[in-house]
Amino acid sequence: MKKKINQLNEKIKEAKLGGGQKRIDAQHNKGKLTARERIHFLLDPDSFEEIGMFVTHRSHDFGMENQKFLGDGVVTGYGTINGRLVYVFSQDFTVFGGSLSETYAEKIVKIMDLAMESGAPVIGLNDSGGARIQEGVVSLGGYADIFFRNTIASGFIPQISAIMGPCAGGAVYSPAITDFILMVEQTSFMFVTGPNVVKTVTNEDVTSEELGGALTHAFKSGVTHLTAPNDLIAIEQIKQLISFMPQNCNEKPPALAYELGEEYRPKLQDIIPPNPNQPYDMKEVIGQVVDEASFFEIHKDFAENIIIGFAHLAGKSIGIVGNQPMSLAGVLDVNSSKKGARFVRFCDSFNIPLLVFEDVPGFLPGTDQEWNAIITNGAKLLYAFSEATVPRITVITRKAYGGAYDVMNSKHIGADFNYAWPSAEIAVMGAKGASEIIFRKEIKAADDPVAKLAEKEAEYAEKFAHPYRAAARGFIDEVIKPNVTRRKLIKAFAVLENKKVIRPNKKHGNIPL
Ligand code: HXC
Repeated sequence: MKKKINQLNEKIKEAKLGGGQKRIDAQHNKGKLTARERIHFLLDPDSFEEIGMFVTHRSHDFGMENQKFLGDGVVTGYGTINGRLVYVFSQDFTVFGGSLSETYAEKIVKIMDLAMESGAPVIGLNDSGGARIQEGVVSLGGYADIFFRNTIASGFIPQISAIMGPCAGGAVYSPAITDFILMVEQTSFMFVTGPNVVKTVTNEDVTSEELGGALTHAFKSGVTHLTAPNDLIAIEQIKQLISFMPQNCNEKPPALAYELGEEYRPKLQDIIPPNPNQPYDMKEVIGQVVDEASFFEIHKDFAENIIIGFAHLAGKSIGIVGNQPMSLAGVLDVNSSKKGARFVRFCDSFNIPLLVFEDVPGFLPGTDQEWNAIITNGAKLLYAFSEATVPRITVITRKAYGGAYDVMNSKHIGADFNYAWPSAEIAVMGAKGASEIIFRKEIKAADDPVAKLAEKEAEYAEKFAHPYRAAARGFIDEVIKPNVTRRKLIKAFAVLENKKVIRPNKKHGNIPL
């Protein structure tokens, strides 16, 4: 037995070396951790159980039968994060550049199937040269097997993808289907076709970093939800993300212990500036309302006119969507609508209640927006809120104008509680724009058109630039002083804890994609 145990130990040692010490050193020299080190830092100590450590590829082409590495380039298994079960795959760049073979795909498929059966999240740590070039179509088939499972698992278990090295070609579509993507700055990139192909096809000169680096996808494309300066920080972000989520769609998110205390927040009274056209930072509002320092912002560098993220409110997970008056006055446009819609759908899939802070002057006008389908894209946000069955509450802090009033989780599309601060203006449009249209003739005929416009503007504002008409209709449940907002929300979400909504039985809706 001793001999056999020694043999096993030797094999384990060999597997743990991946592609060998030289390649491990090269990985470290690039500032990257190895596949196993990443798992080590991600999971609770001693919780990792590896599956498929001795798997090798089946390829016989190009002399591959003589080049086998135990594990075949991906480390797979399960473990816990803060005591909660997760399944993990970690691509090992030291073995054939982390490229995906038939057996490698089978390993990932196996843990995805187990994760779905046991109702636990899947975390993918990506660092790969893509399809194993020596294997051809079986590698492509392997990718498709994974894409299929990503899709079936979507909305059933949370799926998180960290990009910690290359992720190119069709390989990008697995992370793209998952719920959240994180990218490590400088050492990771994602693109469908790399700089060489781009040069050949379009004659553009572009580096990998410009084309698909972390900052490109954070600021320009919005493909990544989070970026981190190194592997360790990315791993911490994954743990934070996971902490707000339930294990699967049949569970509620974990709650932290919380004892109700003095829940008034007087600082909220001083945030809205006296001039309605002056910006303020909605993150200040969020910071005052949620549990201290609990706001975890997602997608912060993309479409900054909308803010999304998770937080705790009296220890419970909530998803926050807020207009940001500091950026484009908080208008809705193509990108902010897409950003908000996907987040709302994530929260709804996983029983995370939604809290909306609204200060929106409308949709952004212009050819750019119309030609980029603000109609279809704005509809995404409208649809996402409308179909959501989780507890939903809106607080209108200032403007709620036009169609955007309807879209931003209004009572009409199913919000449970709609509150407005006394500073709220709920109207078809701002007083100036409205007066210019409906009193045009009167203003033109006046001896002093400027004074007339001001008079009419004041008249319109007095009639409509407040929350009381909406409150009179019941579209607003209560006009509240800002300092009671947190207290109100804690009570209201508690009341909604067991909310149940029955929708018509159908296969699935057809969100305007
Ligand atoms: C097999 C690969 C490989 C691959 C890299 N290697 N990519 N082996 N299949 N796809 C091997 C290299 O031979 C090398 O082996 C080791 O991994 C490290 O690669 P380097 O090139 O030395 O590393 P680096 O300079 O860091 O460059 C990394 C890289 C580059 C940018 C990923 O290797 C690269 O461009 N690879 C090819 C990428 C690609 O075209 N993949 C196919 C995309 S199409 P040794 O033995 O020297 O350590 C695709 C389709 C998916 O993925 C479709 C799904 C639908």
